[in-house]
Amino acid sequence: MDKYSKMSKSIKSKKISSNSTILVTGGTGYIGSHTIVSLIAAGYDPVIVDNLSNSKVSVLKRIAKIAGKKPPFYKIDIRNQKALDGVFQKHRISSVIHFAGLKAVGESVACPINYYENNIGGSLSLFSVMADRGVKNIIFSSSASIYGEPSVIPIKEGTMPAPTNPYARSKLIIEQILQDIYIGDPVWRMVILRYFNPVGAHESGLMGEDPQGIPNNLMPYITQVAVGRRKRINVFGDDYPTSDGTGVRDYIHVMDLAEGHTAALKKIVKMTLIKSKQKPLIVNLGTGRGYTVKEMIQTFAEISGKKIPYRITKRRPGDIATCYADTAMAQKILGWKAQRNLSDMCADAWRWQSQNPKGYV
Ligand code: NAD
Ligand code: UD1
Repeated sequence: MDKYSKMSKSIKSKKISSNSTILVTGGTGYIGSHTIVSLIAAGYDPVIVDNLSNSKVSVLKRIAKIAGKKPPFYKIDIRNQKALDGVFQKHRISSVIHFAGLKAVGESVACPINYYENNIGGSLSLFSVMADRGVKNIIFSSSASIYGEPSVIPIKEGTMPAPTNPYARSKLIIEQILQDIYIGDPVWRMVILRYFNPVGAHESGLMGEDPQGIPNNLMPYITQVAVGRRKRINVFGDDYPTSDGTGVRDYIHVMDLAEGHTAALKKIVKMTLIKSKQKPLIVNLGTGRGYTVKEMIQTFAEISGKKIPYRITKRRPGDIATCYADTAMAQKILGWKAQRNLSDMCADAWRWQSQNPKGYV
């Protein structure tokens, strides 16, 4: 019996008694798939809906290998209300974690209609089916990108949002729709999670980030250089007001992020037990510390033992100098704090990429 089969045996024994069926939209995607593993480990029964527009069905086998069971999966576009309703009829869903959405900033600038239609249209369709079926617990994937260029660092949840592109705007609009739904019906229980920069992979090396085409984000670009898929990385500017001139971000291990959802789910269950009004919660999920691009490249090179050639190019339009989270709210409200450090993020990302040079096949 290998380590992960053993882990899955112990996971099975931890079954919780009620409120255990969780619908996860976008559950075959990068963050969704890692969250599924975390949910199963915590005793929940996730059910996945995904249209596979940015993920592969083969991730389900990896989930099964790590977690010891393959969750029910439906290839459905969340804009298809009839199909979505069928899933609610078939399963006694208690809460929804809503990841499904498009997430490439550049693409959102080029094709805003697609982004608004998919992200906002998809969310409205989901919320409508939930309301009809009386399922009123939701955790929503929002993004630190809604803050835009913050004037105060670390960023607190009360910072005035100032999104600078259609992707980020779609997230903020969905947050506002959720707030309006709550005003109309305060029975809803909502946790809006604003993620900073998720990186890394499951420690088994079986699951990780698998971007299609040229990666937009730093970490998958670095791992593809390390594995020989790309020659070198372009560092977008070294004239920012930071320690070495390159941009600073709050990178968070994807399994820490996944566990943040399990913590949010526990919070939602508690909120449900309280009959009085429970306002939507908005919580940053980050580590509270930032690293520069050069620090990321250097740490990854040290951990992987691979050379990461890079060259400095001009700034990427829309980029900001520094962004990291104030994490006090997550600790106070969810009792959650990121546990993994930058070495873990790099080691796990490298294990995944080196064992799966072409991603999921
Ligand atoms: P991902 O693309 O890997 O996962 C999203 C999943 O949603 C994909 O599997 C895709 O096929 C599915 N999907 C998209 N539109 C759909 C639709 N209409 N119907 C059904 N399925 C649909 O992305 P991810 O990195 O796992 O991100 C998950 C969520 O977190 C997204 O909402 C994203 O905006 C948000 N987020 C991500 C990051 C990040 O850096 N990865 C940062 C902040 C917020
Ligand atoms: C990007 C998105 C943001 C999203 C976030 C989550 C943009 C403008 N913003 O943010 O909306 O929420 O991802 O993952 O796309 N870098 C390089 N070379 C590269 C890639 C990146 O130097 O090839 C630098 C960037 O300039 C930045 C840092 O690395 O300083 C991180 O970039 P990235 O991973 O794209 O994340 P964000 O820019 O924070």
